Amino acid sequence: MATLSENFLFIILTAFLLLQSGYSDKVAGKIYSDVLSIHPCVILTNATHQIGCTSSLGGHVGVVHYIQSQDDVDWLIKHNDDHAPYIPLFTSEMFKKTSLKVLVNKKIISGALVIHGGKDGQAPKSGFSPVDDCPQDRFGMYNGNTEYGSCNKVKWNEGGNGMSFESYGIPIFALYNQTEINELIKCYRDNNQPINGSVPDYPLCAVELKDFMFAAKDTPTCIRKSKVPNPTQNQFCDPLGDYNVWGTLYPMEEEPKKGDIVVAAAKLDSSSFFHDLVYGADNDASGVIALLAAARVLGDMKRNGTEEPPKKPIMFTLFQGESWDYIGSSRMVYDMNKDRFPSNTWKVKSNGTTKDLKLKTSHIGYFIELNQVGLGDGPLWAHSDPISRKTKEVDEKVKHLFDELEKASKNTSVPVKEASTDKSQPLPPASFQRFLRSNKEIPGIVLTDHQKEFSNKYYNSRFDDAYNVQGNFTSDNDSRIYLSNTFTKRLTHVANTLANTLYTLANDGKPPKTELKVNEYLIGHLVYCSFYRANCDLYKEAFNTKMGKSLPSRAISRYVSVNTANNTLTIVTHNLLLYFTGYHLKTSSSCESHGPFTLYKMLGNSNDSKEMCANGTVYYSLAESPAFELEQYNSTEYSTWAESVWNADLSVRMFLISSPQRQAVTLASGIVMTLFSFVLVYFIHRKADQIFTPAPGILEDLDAQS
Ligand SMILES: *[C@@H]1O[C@H](CO)[C@@H](O)[C@H](O)[C@H]1NC(C)=O
Ligand SMILES: *[C@@H]1O[C@H](CO)[C@@H](O)[C@H](O)[C@H]1NC(C)=O
Ligand SMILES: *[C@@H]1O[C@H](CO)[C@@H](O)[C@H](O)[C@H]1NC(C)=O
Ligand SMILES: *[C@@H]1O[C@H](CO)[C@@H](O)[C@H](O)[C@H]1NC(C)=O
Ligand SMILES: *[C@@H]1O[C@H](CO)[C@@H](O)[C@H](O)[C@H]1NC(C)=O
Ligand SMILES: *[C@@H]1O[C@H](CO)[C@@H](O)[C@H](O)[C@H]1NC(C)=O
Ligand SMILES: *[C@@H]1O[C@H](CO)[C@@H](O)[C@H](O)[C@H]1NC(C)=O
Ligand SMILES: *[C@@H]1O[C@H](CO)[C@@H](O)[C@H](O)[C@H]1NC(C)=O
Ligand SMILES: *[C@@H]1O[C@H](CO)[C@@H](O)[C@H](O)[C@H]1NC(C)=O
Ligand SMILES: *[C@@H]1O[C@H](CO)[C@@H](O)[C@H](O)[C@H]1NC(C)=O
Ligand SMILES: *[C@@H]1O[C@H](CO)[C@@H](O)[C@H](O)[C@H]1NC(C)=O
Ligand SMILES: *[C@@H]1O[C@H](CO)[C@@H](O)[C@H](O)[C@H]1NC(C)=O
Repeated sequence: MATLSENFLFIILTAFLLLQSGYSDKVAGKIYSDVLSIHPCVILTNATHQIGCTSSLGGHVGVVHYIQSQDDVDWLIKHNDDHAPYIPLFTSEMFKKTSLKVLVNKKIISGALVIHGGKDGQAPKSGFSPVDDCPQDRFGMYNGNTEYGSCNKVKWNEGGNGMSFESYGIPIFALYNQTEINELIKCYRDNNQPINGSVPDYPLCAVELKDFMFAAKDTPTCIRKSKVPNPTQNQFCDPLGDYNVWGTLYPMEEEPKKGDIVVAAAKLDSSSFFHDLVYGADNDASGVIALLAAARVLGDMKRNGTEEPPKKPIMFTLFQGESWDYIGSSRMVYDMNKDRFPSNTWKVKSNGTTKDLKLKTSHIGYFIELNQVGLGDGPLWAHSDPISRKTKEVDEKVKHLFDELEKASKNTSVPVKEASTDKSQPLPPASFQRFLRSNKEIPGIVLTDHQKEFSNKYYNSRFDDAYNVQGNFTSDNDSRIYLSNTFTKRLTHVANTLANTLYTLANDGKPPKTELKVNEYLIGHLVYCSFYRANCDLYKEAFNTKMGKSLPSRAISRYVSVNTANNTLTIVTHNLLLYFTGYHLKTSSSCESHGPFTLYKMLGNSNDSKEMCANGTVYYSLAESPAFELEQYNSTEYSTWAESVWNADLSVRMFLISSPQRQAVTLASGIVMTLFSFVLVYFIHRKADQIFTPAPGILEDLDAQS
């Protein structure tokens, strides 16, 4: 039987607690200051290892130390015992493998922050590439080859430090909001900065970093754990992957013969140490932009009917996930070998009957790959594979391919030159390696801006951005969407060479009557859309009005990410290739795809904002490593990269910590207060009937109810 006094007391206590919790939220707001503009480093796993960063479930706390020089690193090592663990705030120049490793190994730090952008976050002059010096060697075609394997002839990425492929066991974030960075530096200067080398006193500026990663050890382990029913967590990691984009200029009506198809390829992704902080300007956007521009000029030719259609098919392909052991290209080759490419039905005439089109690697007559092509003012270097060229037939075709490229580029300021005239040098890392790995009879050339080592000092890093390829060229202004600078001029030449060569090769050696000419403004516009703002006019033209509105007002990340969500970059590229190579139907009718044709309603280049319909043969094809279909999670043949799952509460919070003595005093007084309130409550409870005298009627009513 509840008495009124008990009820009353309960209400008072509840109200008190509610007030208290509201109050404590406010206090937390005062103590913690959230740093919101962050890019985490996350855990990825492959067949045998985990790489990247993680905190414990509750996050890691450490005292901030601003690292601007080696002296600051040395100070931390010397004062390890004082206030450790520390969380260093690195300038981009000081975020190096050597500093990071020594601090992690000596357990001096429990996390790290890196400044990106602004004065402290500029690209190190000496270069920075956090991947291996011989990228993707194990999954290319020279794996195990004593002559060419392990970059025995050329160390392609000489400056590569491999930082991305280490496992740190601490959280690491990049910060990019200058206001927030300055606040953090001020907090450090006001509280932590050693004066004349002495140890600072409490209170100290500290941060809490939270990015707990669920995956651990390797991909077989995390897939196995994901398959076991678990009430709290059902997914630990997801395979990396997305879609390739490919298409042909004209629809293929007849089954192609062996060696018929002329392929133009590029990769559609890049990587960096930090999740989604991936601009990939030289590697990969330069190649993608030149390829799309070449597709555009060939598409104009097709729509205007200015040239005869070439006799053989021209195929464009853009591979996703290539930075992670060639996911997209290895999957396309795998599908071709399994007679599953293309995956859509496409009826073709063959010897008087109709059958489903099945493309195989043997259908490829020439393979031209645009790799990193945007840097410097030197020639475009043509790389070929010495092993397949030992076959006379292949060698002759490669020579022919090279001659055509050389001819088409002769009058430009970016001539094509052979990287290794004596055929002693192997291919650089390239998607083409995955085709040759399966079929050594494909003649092909990989075009790059480097003869030996990469010209790109920032390969697969966050610094391979617009600045890397075009210097201080800024554009925050719509009237300047038509950028024009050395980079766009160079890409225009590359695209011209590609377009004319593709036509000539597909037309049995007969070049177009009038040279195909890429519009430099188109390149400028593509550069603008890729590096500054995705909701630009050109991208909007390739989307329907509704979808166009959802394009972001910043550059789209070029990280492949996991296979559970579709990449915006892939969709944009698909639509652009369709827009550029397809017919433009001035109809707002249903726009439904028929047979092999992809029809998509898009805005097009009209001022009355009436949508049109693009009709072409452009498709997605799955870019997910065959290892996951074959369930060979420890594969050494196919990529096994997977990305860890994490909670939504990734965070960086800044606060002041007081000295341990002060904390102890606060705790003790808290305990005393709590005990005192218990005594008080007990007393009030016992004397309740004397303190509170209820109205007589109510008491009876309540008793009757209960
Ligand atoms: C997995 O990645 C690690 C780190 O890069 C590497 O050492 C290892 O060889 C890779 N395993 C396989 C099977 O490729
Ligand atoms: C940077 O952070 C400050 C404070 O949180 C915020 O007011 C400002 O809008 C941010 N700037 C950008 C460019 O996001
Ligand atoms: C630091 O040392 C210098 C020279 O030894 C001295 O002039 C200066 O006053 C010191 N600063 C402080 C804050 O102690
Ligand atoms: C072909 O079409 C494009 C636009 O569709 C146009 O700008 C160009 O002038 C045309 N070229 C010729 C040679 O007709
Ligand atoms: C086409 O058909 C003819 C006659 O039926 C046959 O001799 C020839 O081998 C066929 N060719 C192919 C490529 O199937
Ligand atoms: C290169 O220029 C010369 C003279 O300007 C011209 O005769 C020739 O046709 C051009 N070649 C190509 C491939 O455009
Ligand atoms: C870029 O701009 C900054 C500031 O405007 C200037 O200091 C720097 O020299 C410029 N760099 C180049 C390569 O033009
Ligand atoms: C944009 O750039 C043009 C030409 O460079 C200039 O005339 C115009 O004032 C700029 N507009 C804005 C809003 O900055
Ligand atoms: C991603 O794109 C593919 C190919 O167009 C489509 O089949 C799939 O439904 C899309 N998935 C999501 C999650 O949007
Ligand atoms: C766009 O508008 C301008 C002027 O209003 C006109 O000259 C031009 O022909 C229009 N272009 C198209 C594609 O309708
Ligand atoms: C799309 O183009 C093809 C030829 O390229 C044509 O056969 C087909 O009818 C077109 N579809 C529509 C809806 O116009
Ligand atoms: C992968 O694992 C299977 C079974 O666990 C084993 O039989 C196989 O040898 C392993 N393959 C590699 C390349 O390690």
